[in-house]
Amino acid sequence: MRIVLVGPPGAGKGTQAAYLAKNLAIPHISTGDLFRANISQGTPLGQKAQEYMRAGQLVPDEVTIGMAKDRMGQADAADGFLLDGFPRNLAQAEALDAILKADDLKLDAVLDLEVPEDEVVKRIAGRRMCRKDSSHIFHAIYNPPAVEGVCDTCGGELYQREDDSEETVRRRLEVYHSETEPIIDYYKAQGLVVTISALGKVTEVTERAMAALNRD
Ligand code: AP5
Ligand code: ZN
Repeated sequence: MRIVLVGPPGAGKGTQAAYLAKNLAIPHISTGDLFRANISQGTPLGQKAQEYMRAGQLVPDEVTIGMAKDRMGQADAADGFLLDGFPRNLAQAEALDAILKADDLKLDAVLDLEVPEDEVVKRIAGRRMCRKDSSHIFHAIYNPPAVEGVCDTCGGELYQREDDSEETVRRRLEVYHSETEPIIDYYKAQGLVVTISALGKVTEVTERAMAALNRD
């Protein structure tokens, strides 16, 4: 399956992607995670991305589209993938269509996670990420680790993302509404969008998502 996951910052895309990718046996491709990996490795791409991410702005398309294309071209993505955080504007959605079309491929679904803005703000404020594995995501209140600051799964150090400050989150939400939401209509016109509520327990949202994808 080839799936795009869309939803505002803090909707739970990364959290759900970890479970859905496992259930569907496809790789989870997150452009945010790819940028953060480049930043921690100090690559030129990471240096370029960091200034935009710090400001809560989109990294320019010429950087992002090439990076996403390279990742989708890797062997493990040959039979499908779950895209998280890409595409994020109409130009990226059109580029993705062109990339897939060149190989005679199509998306199967666009899973839209719906969650009210006040909940998103609470989720982001308490988020704790694992330095060793970006799919290990915790929350200080909703999903606390057994030992504060330590990942339950791998023992890695937990940290707060640099772009999770209140001011930057506000900017990221604005960017979501102005640049990313229009891709939902773009995909609705192709009959691909399935919208689910992202409220409730993580496991409940996963069940809802699997049912919406007709994989329950
Ligand atoms: P990215 O990393 O993609 O961030 P985002 O889209 O803002 O999404 P988040 O990672 O903040 O949230 P999420 O939906 O994954 O939520 P999570 O599962 O962590 O992008 C970051 C930046 O990179 C962008 O601002 C941009 O600069 C750049 N970038 C990335 N892609 C780009 C692109 N294509 N083009 C240009 N620039 C790009 O959950 C959040 C919290 O809630 C966690 O603490 C979790 O434990 C908790 N939680 C999750 N589910 C539940 C639940 N059901 N109940 C209670 N708590 C929950
Ligand atoms: Zn971990």
